[in-house]
Amino acid sequence: MLVQLPITNYQLSITIMTNYRKPRKVLVTGGAGFIGSNFVYHWCKHYPGDRLVVLDALTYAGNRQNLAELEGKANFRFVKGDICDRPLVQQLLQEEEIDTIAHFAAESHVDRSILGPDAFIQTNVVGTFTLLESFRQRWEIEGKSTDYRFLHVSTDEVYGSLKPDDPPFSETTPYAPNSPYSASKAGSDHLARAYYHTYGMPTIVTNCSNNYGPYHYPEKLIPLMCINILLGKPLPVYGDGQNIRDWLYVEDHCRALDVVIHTGEPGETYNIGGNNEVKNIDLVYQLCALMDELAPELPVRPAKKLITFVKDRPGHDRRYAIDATKIKTELGWTPQQTLEGGLRRTVEWYLSNRDWWQPLLSPEYQSYYGQVYS
Ligand code: NAD
Ligand code: TYD
Repeated sequence: MLVQLPITNYQLSITIMTNYRKPRKVLVTGGAGFIGSNFVYHWCKHYPGDRLVVLDALTYAGNRQNLAELEGKANFRFVKGDICDRPLVQQLLQEEEIDTIAHFAAESHVDRSILGPDAFIQTNVVGTFTLLESFRQRWEIEGKSTDYRFLHVSTDEVYGSLKPDDPPFSETTPYAPNSPYSASKAGSDHLARAYYHTYGMPTIVTNCSNNYGPYHYPEKLIPLMCINILLGKPLPVYGDGQNIRDWLYVEDHCRALDVVIHTGEPGETYNIGGNNEVKNIDLVYQLCALMDELAPELPVRPAKKLITFVKDRPGHDRRYAIDATKIKTELGWTPQQTLEGGLRRTVEWYLSNRDWWQPLLSPEYQSYYGQVYS
């Protein structure tokens, strides 16, 4: 027989205490970019009581449209500004009483770092330093609270390139960055780590594999291929197309960052990856097949006829692969999206969001491509 006992005040307060989560005041740098905007949507959906402030310089890769659904929401604020601007960063941290930084802002494209590395050193190294130093000041004034978090979002590219039989990158793999982009990210990773070891500031570094999904700027492989297929333009595959990347759907990355902010250990680093190693040429074939299936009108069909092998990228890393055992065993995160399912969702997104990507194909964008292939 089931006996219904009255809930005591003690039981009620235990329930409330165990479910209670102190709202955070989060500064998201680079929140108008690809991963940052996906993260902002993730956070707003799961923690509507948190304050969210986006700081973004709106470079060519930043797009206010990415955050359109949040404009006017009470707990959301967008600030156009540079992470290198120390007075601005300090003022924002103070007036918004920020206790958590999710740091995405970066120059993020390897090809651009080869053409012009200056901006990569400035934003990725000097900008990260500026944020760390400003956050340290605030954290110290606030009594070095253990609730504070500085999440530095980084890449697996800091580990360099794997040979075919090498094991995937783990958190103990030595750094060996090969491009100006990965070298600048490596420098910023070391700064974040040093702020924990020197000052005890609660920083955490995550190193993630290649992301894909909605709002991905069309200079990167997957969105570029989707859009070129729709426009009937050549699909430029660098070198022999045998380079391998380990793909992760962006939503899975955002879930991992959420888990790291809430349960990760300060001072630690966590590798994040989807266990999806694929050769570039095979990925392009997959995208072509999906477009053939899903796009009613294509200028060229089958889309694979557009594949064009072009000059290789200088210093092109051959293979990346992530061992995500640590975040799985210690924090319980695993990816949920299969590569096949994620690519399908992505292709569908680019098919139904022409208004998002068409304005991006600007003269600046075209002239950039002129330089990559010259
Ligand atoms: P992105 O290029 O799409 O977005 C970068 C954002 O940062 C843009 O909105 C841009 O306007 C902003 N920004 C650039 N310089 C700035 C500055 N000085 N001040 C303020 N804002 C500035 O990049 P993404 O692909 O979303 O990557 C986000 C982060 O994740 C980066 O730190 C990148 O290194 C890391 N990461 C990316 C991937 C990937 O596959 N895309 C994988 C692992 C890690
Ligand atoms: P990219 O999306 O630029 O990411 P990353 O260089 O950070 O891994 O490139 C992914 C892979 O695709 C990389 O091996 C380079 C290759 N690639 C092409 O073959 N053609 C292209 O037009 C682009 C942009 C990339």
